[in-house]
Amino acid sequence: MRKDILISEAEMAAARAAAGRVKEEIAPLGLTYHIESYGCQMNDHDSEKLAGMLEEMGCTKAADKADAQVILFNTCCVREHAEQRVYGNIGALKKRKDENPGLLIGVCGCMMQQKAAGDKLFRRFPFVDMVFGTNELHRFPNIFESALHEERILAVRDIDGEIAEGLPVLRSGTFSTNVTIAYGCDNFCSYCIVPYVRGRERSRDSGAIVEEVRSVAAAGFKEVTLLGQNVNSYSGDDGVTDFPTLLRVVHDSVPDMNRIRFMTSHPKDLSPALMDAIAELPRVCKHIHLPVQSGSNRILRLMNRRYTRENYMDEVAELRRKVPDIELTTDIIVGFPGETEEDFQDTLDLIKQVGYSAAFTFMYSPRKGTAAASMAEQVPDEVKHDRLQRLNALQAEILKEGNLKYIGRTGEVLVEGCDRRAEPMAYGKLSNFKMVYFPGGEELIGSLRTVEITANQNNSLIGRLID
Ligand code: SAH
Ligand code: SF4
Ligand code: F3S
Repeated sequence: MRKDILISEAEMAAARAAAGRVKEEIAPLGLTYHIESYGCQMNDHDSEKLAGMLEEMGCTKAADKADAQVILFNTCCVREHAEQRVYGNIGALKKRKDENPGLLIGVCGCMMQQKAAGDKLFRRFPFVDMVFGTNELHRFPNIFESALHEERILAVRDIDGEIAEGLPVLRSGTFSTNVTIAYGCDNFCSYCIVPYVRGRERSRDSGAIVEEVRSVAAAGFKEVTLLGQNVNSYSGDDGVTDFPTLLRVVHDSVPDMNRIRFMTSHPKDLSPALMDAIAELPRVCKHIHLPVQSGSNRILRLMNRRYTRENYMDEVAELRRKVPDIELTTDIIVGFPGETEEDFQDTLDLIKQVGYSAAFTFMYSPRKGTAAASMAEQVPDEVKHDRLQRLNALQAEILKEGNLKYIGRTGEVLVEGCDRRAEPMAYGKLSNFKMVYFPGGEELIGSLRTVEITANQNNSLIGRLID
């Protein structure tokens, strides 16, 4: 393990000691908590660690947010909209705090890691008790202890980022879960705030990753997603130095993990070795999330994505040659500074050519401190709205058409849930990430079942159980 990026044992021990003291102190109170998580899977997973630490300190999850005595907001700042939602929801707690001064409110996550964000938040919401950054997660017991003693606490460190191993995790899913393989990002796409709030890219050792996957498999999880902002640049320090190798090691070391997914893959680092691993490893899902962001070379250059449309299309062709049944999903930004109608047409043309099974589409949102925020030629909001609508309409059509080829095929679904309608419909994803609905009850949840696809309805697949 690379000692230089691990949080020191002394600091981890101090947090554990604080957790022990808090547990003793609050045991008679029986405090309940609620965590509101915004943003990506990274944040969701951090929230699972916060929940793990809270439980370790003797708190229990509140049945309802309205009854919780501890409320944490784990924030995201990737787009302005995400920030506005957080502000609205924190503001709504003022009255409750006035009536119940014992209520403890904390705000953490990416938004708080921005420059001076904590001070600003305290000024705007003086009733908040704790503010802490993404690098402070492991110290939550220390922070919580201070807040319990009515100290207002602001803990944000301006460092490149470290790794905390061994934190307790309370997983929210029951059959599908996430394991982080790398933290941070070094890509500095010109629109993106993530490298500023999550620090430098750092990979966990493969041994720790395999151990965690093994433990979640033992706990009954059937699907794991290996997480990183850019999994393709994974580089552990214990002999497993690239992502395709890690994927093989995880696959072969944990034979009872039924499904292995990973995200996100940056197109500039997608190697032939990774394509081979997806093709050859039976329990690695036949799906790749490969954000293209734009179909215009001019815009890709301005975005600092470091690939061209042609490189990207070649990769897609090669992937499909090696893994014929693979499905692709993507992220797209419309209205990046300087994007013309012609650039946008290039994006529309690209999504037609690729045929994604899902596209997560966003209007460009200027983020303070990023290169793109100060570019000239910001695109007016109404143009962004219009492009987003046209993009989504085209993607819906592409999806409808693409789904037709599935009719008559069979595949294995990991059942996630059940819609209670007149006839209960179970639903879940195929290995390739496509959602299928089929007649079936709640007893199927969590099982892997074979279905035959019978129809395409409202852009999702309909099937029937055949096993
Ligand atoms: N690491 C991943 C995803 C990071 S954030 C990747 O590289 O793809 C998820 C998505 O949010 C990005 O893919 C991008 O499409 C979008 N996004 C990031 N910054 C944005 C911004 N300033 N405005 C609009 N969308 C943005
Ligand atoms: Fe942001 Fe680019 Fe890093 Fe993804 S790869 S997190 S879009 S900087
Ligand atoms: Fe994720 Fe949002 Fe942070 S997308 S990494 S929670 S800024």
